[in-house]
Amino acid sequence: MELPQLKFGNIVAKIPIIQGGMAVRVSTAPLAAAVANEGGIGVIAVSGMPIDEIREQIRVAKTLTKGILGINAMVDLREFFETIKATIEEGIDVIFAGAGFSRDLFAIGKEAGIPVVPIVSSARLAKIAERLGAAAVVV
Ligand SMILES: Cc1cc2nc3c(=O)[nH]c(=O)nc-3n(C[C@H](O)[C@H](O)[C@H](O)COP(=O)(O)O)c2cc1C
Repeated sequence: MELPQLKFGNIVAKIPIIQGGMAVRVSTAPLAAAVANEGGIGVIAVSGMPIDEIREQIRVAKTLTKGILGINAMVDLREFFETIKATIEEGIDVIFAGAGFSRDLFAIGKEAGIPVVPIVSSARLAKIAERLGAAAVVV
């Protein structure tokens, strides 16, 4: 079966599969890299990980794939913005953020040239996200 490409923001994935972000060290570098190597979007779930470990996970994933890598973070994290900054510095391709909603995140993504994809639970929030510059939404 021929699957279509998935396009949003500056992302073009060969197959329309975004791996789920699973914290508690389930969605780490090896899983994300495996998905990215198949042409999907691999996701490292960073919630609950110290920032040094997040940086290391992204670095390891980048040694395992040249494909598309995203991170999934809970907005309600105490160190949310420090975490996002670190993942941008490590060269992540896309940011998925849920468990809360940050208006500021869209400006940060725009400045870095990285698509921001919020996880939303209502049509109202999806519309607000669109206005703020979301590249896509996860429903
Ligand atoms: C162990 C585990 C950890 C998860 N951690 C996250 C997370 O950090 N961020 C997130 O957005 N979703 C998280 N999820 C949800 C998944 O990304 C996904 O949306 C969900 O598992 C899909 O459908 P389900 O309801 O059948 O589990 C987690 C799921 C599991 C099973």
